[in-house]
Amino acid sequence: MKVAVGCDHAGFMLKKDVLEVLQELGHEIVDCGTWSDKSVDYPDFGRAVAEQVVKEQVDFGIVMCGTGIGISIAANKVPGIRAALCHDTFSARMSRAHNNANVLAMGSRVIGPGLARDIIRTFLTTEFDGGRHALRVAKLEQ
Ligand code: RB5
Repeated sequence: MKVAVGCDHAGFMLKKDVLEVLQELGHEIVDCGTWSDKSVDYPDFGRAVAEQVVKEQVDFGIVMCGTGIGISIAANKVPGIRAALCHDTFSARMSRAHNNANVLAMGSRVIGPGLARDIIRTFLTTEFDGGRHALRVAKLEQ
């Protein structure tokens, strides 16, 4: 699979681990920045990843900021994006199974790299359940 990754300066703390786990899983990566801990604005990077997803340049997006909140809000402003802020593996699994989330958001000041890696593995290996959930997801798009 192809995965776009984006973060602000706070999310940059998690970036190395995120890229490593994606490489371990054999995924192709589109790196949308940022590339240092120099202060930047999370909406720019949430949008960059979201656009990669809606233009179908990638299968999924992963975004990080300090809390994961700002960058998930930014990604969700782009029509077609279902960004899920997940800090546990249950939420990560359900965001795929029930919500067909196409962007995973995490906060680098909330969780550590070990949990972030597990969340990514769970998110990327869980299929959408479809059925009644497909009707609800369709309503989101309306
Ligand atoms: C940056 O200090 C911080 O506000 C940002 O990374 C994020 O947590 C916003 O939601």
